[in-house]
Amino acid sequence: MKTTEEINQLKERADQYISNRNAFYQKDERLYTRQEAADYLKISNKTLDVHVKALGFDVKAREGMQWSMSISELYDFESKLPANLRKHEKFERQPGQKCQVIMMQNQKGGVGKTVTSATVASCLSAEFPEQLRVGLIDLDGQSTLSMYYAVNAHRDGEFSVGDIVRGNYELDEGETYDQLVKDAFLQTTIPNLRILPALQSDRSLESWFHLNLSKLDNPYGQVKKIVDAVEDDFDVIIIDTPPSLSFMTYNGYFAATSVVFPLAANENDIDATCNYFANLPDVWALLEGAGHQGYDFMRLLVTNYRQTTSNTALMNQLTRTFSEWLYSTQFKHSEAVQLCTSMMSTVFDLTASEYPKTKKTLSDARVNAYEVASQVYRDVYNVWDK
Ligand SMILES: Nc1ncnc2c1ncn2[C@@H]1O[C@H](COP(=O)(O)OP(=O)(O)OP(=O)(O)O)[C@@H](O)[C@H]1O
Ligand SMILES: [Mg+2]
Repeated sequence: MKTTEEINQLKERADQYISNRNAFYQKDERLYTRQEAADYLKISNKTLDVHVKALGFDVKAREGMQWSMSISELYDFESKLPANLRKHEKFERQPGQKCQVIMMQNQKGGVGKTVTSATVASCLSAEFPEQLRVGLIDLDGQSTLSMYYAVNAHRDGEFSVGDIVRGNYELDEGETYDQLVKDAFLQTTIPNLRILPALQSDRSLESWFHLNLSKLDNPYGQVKKIVDAVEDDFDVIIIDTPPSLSFMTYNGYFAATSVVFPLAANENDIDATCNYFANLPDVWALLEGAGHQGYDFMRLLVTNYRQTTSNTALMNQLTRTFSEWLYSTQFKHSEAVQLCTSMMSTVFDLTASEYPKTKKTLSDARVNAYEVASQVYRDVYNVWDK
């Protein structure tokens, strides 16, 4: 009895902590300074000023900045510029160019799957000239990724991945499954980035799969149904997965067109990842048996990387072992990445003036994260250009 009471109290306090924290971390859209806006638009500060005035944009002082534009204001501003000044060309997928579904997975925990998912997604959507339409899917019931971009999903009664997989919804009159799924992808603080969140209730999905196995035509195909429903709405979908080989992970593998395996450069992570790969043929046999057609690319990405002589030696080994499967640029360890993470942001969606330390560490981290995301970007275009 005492334990029951104690556990209930622990739950109550934890709920309180989360709701305080969520109230504290109300995340707003990233704000751009005048210089950042000019850089993004690839125009001079003077030209920017002229058109801000001509178009009557209110570049108000916010967050300690004299001049500011939010990312959606920036997109809106750009769309109203004269055609010769619009340097960004929105990407339009041609017939035959499939939506790229990239899954971040490693059975090892804490290797950077979630930080990499969020960072690559925010970079692909906001930092490239095409303004790619990016979707995030959080398959991990821990819902860390959802804390970045859908912190109020629970409070607002939004659908989670698990709700859709379990069929915990009722279609309104005339509403289709596809429409419900499209609407379940929530708007984030980046206009062309949306997320289908996980909620804590998704933790019980594993037992749901075991209980319902006999009723499912393809137990690995439930997330693929979700992806198929939004295939026309996104150019790239990034799937974050739990550190396990659960039904949801198999579902991620089945829905994905490519896989990135994050790992840290230390003996433990490398051993764990190699042992995991030893098991992949069995995983693949099940997926192929269920009808998967094969991946466009598979890559290893070293994360949280600190450059030391012994780590360089490890990189030498990794490069010799995995050659073209290994991304050559590592996601470097950075105080900025760590701090942004604790503020439920990536280096790309945090307003620079809100960054509490030296701005140089933030801009260095952005340069590295941009290069990391560019490796994925090149692979995606490689598939589309074929
Ligand atoms: N480049 C980096 N610089 C600094 N810290 C990093 C970096 N990459 C990851 N981390 C830190 O490592 C921790 C684990 O990262 P993350 O949550 O992305 O791992 P994960 O693989 O998703 O974990 P899990 O298996 O629990 O889902 C985070 O707290 C994050 O701050
Ligand atoms: Mg994670």
